[in-house]
Amino acid sequence: MEKIFLDNRLNFPATERNRDFIAAVLSNHISPSSVFLEIASGSGEHGVFFQKKFPSIIWQTSDPVLAHRSSINSWIKHEGLTSKMPLPIDLDVEKRPWPITKQLKSLIKGIVCINMIHISPWSCTKALFEESKSYLNKKQFLMLYGPFFRKDKQTSSSNLNFDKSLKSQNPLWGLRHLENINKIAFENGFILEKIIEMPANNLSVIYRIN
Ligand SMILES: C[S@@+](CC[C@H](N)C(=O)[O-])C[C@H]1O[C@@H](n2cnc3c(N)ncnc32)[C@H](O)[C@@H]1O
Repeated sequence: MEKIFLDNRLNFPATERNRDFIAAVLSNHISPSSVFLEIASGSGEHGVFFQKKFPSIIWQTSDPVLAHRSSINSWIKHEGLTSKMPLPIDLDVEKRPWPITKQLKSLIKGIVCINMIHISPWSCTKALFEESKSYLNKKQFLMLYGPFFRKDKQTSSSNLNFDKSLKSQNPLWGLRHLENINKIAFENGFILEKIIEMPANNLSVIYRIN
């Protein structure tokens, strides 16, 4: 159940269930003194959690929704991270080029996008890959997390129901086929490094610039 706070902090309950598992995956892919850019940070709960978990890095959040950026700011303040974490960036993957400064671009070592691509039109997935490659050097990664369809695996009934409910809210939303995402990734110079099965029928997928 969603918690209500008196400041602008939002509570996305799933973040508390999946953050430890996502952090475990991230821990294999991050290096100290690096900046990691999170696309579609939502409430900011993942952001502050990862920043506290990995104090040697800088976690740069972003989201196009003002209420989400206000929530992220409030979480940063609430967790006492104002001197460590930058303010969230107003970043819509389809508004290109992304508002990333040259200095930030030179520091980014990886991009993480959790639970966005099924809750946005397919054009957002394309934009995510097309634009991410401009901010990543060889061997740097783009990590996706969420539910997917896979050609060779049966889809769980919970994911089929989730897909239906997303499409009923917006016909342009819905779970994506991992094979179609891979195609976009390859077209943009990424290789598929790893697919990690996660709890609740989710996947973490690591792509790397070849
Ligand atoms: C389901 S929420 C996930 C938030 C967070 N990553 C999480 O897992 O709790 C989807 C997020 O995608 C963001 N989003 C939707 N369309 C977007 C776009 N075109 N560019 C960037 N973010 C977008 C929304 O604002 C929202 O914060």
